[in-house]
Amino acid sequence: RALLARGTDLAGVRAVVTAGGTREPIDPVRYIGNRSSGRQGVAVALAAADRGAQVTLLAAHTDTEVLTKATAHPRVAVVRVNTASELSDAVAAHEADADVVVMAAAVADYRVANSSDHKLTKEETGDRITLDLVATEDILAGLVGRRRPDQTIVGFAAETETDPDLLLDRARRKRQRKGVDLLAVNEVGWHKGFESDDNTLAFIDRDDTMVGTVTGSKREAADALWDAVLTVRGRD
Ligand code: CTP
Ligand code: CA
Repeated sequence: RALLARGTDLAGVRAVVTAGGTREPIDPVRYIGNRSSGRQGVAVALAAADRGAQVTLLAAHTDTEVLTKATAHPRVAVVRVNTASELSDAVAAHEADADVVVMAAAVADYRVANSSDHKLTKEETGDRITLDLVATEDILAGLVGRRRPDQTIVGFAAETETDPDLLLDRARRKRQRKGVDLLAVNEVGWHKGFESDDNTLAFIDRDDTMVGTVTGSKREAADALWDAVLTVRGRD
């Protein structure tokens, strides 16, 4: 649809959007992180707010300039988090008020079980150090498990698979495994997805049908995501 036709088609919708990458501490000054810039997730939050939605943006670590616009938007409330566990708590605190939850954050799959409460020194760690990594809670699985019938849960899948058919197969399996209403599939790689201004997304619904694709700015991708959300919500 044309940008102008979208108007305030999300007026009255309450959205929770997560964005950015979580960081899992190794010690007070070191962490395990990922390359998420938060740009796509913040664009999703801003697109919704511009179209009339009331948005809570749960922001993990993002590029520094990315959050400024969101913080300034009258219909976006920003909550900052650090770890996967903090993000999980923030989601739990805000999900009850949400009509739509979009999990665009890059959540760490593992946290460091043997993290140190003081800065590790080479004196104690020597030539080799073993980090004991344990799985984090799957926030999306929790959301889907507690979902109200009127709630729409959207997941993201960042995949490095370059073959389009294999990428779609993988995405459909992930959509089923996650049980989300909509999965936004994002091909990423060493030079794609993360820091770039452009993005390609495909949207897969509960019937594993591709209900849209978009290549464009992260804002255009965000608007296409909300179009797909309205499509799947309109069916119930
Ligand atoms: N996600 C989550 N909690 C986690 C890990 C991921 O809520 N602990 C969410 C992400 O925000 C995303 C979706 O689950 O919306 C898919 O994330 P992804 O990393 O693609 O899926 P995983 O199940 O972690 O599978 P894998 O990393 O092995 O591909
Ligand atoms: Ca993962």
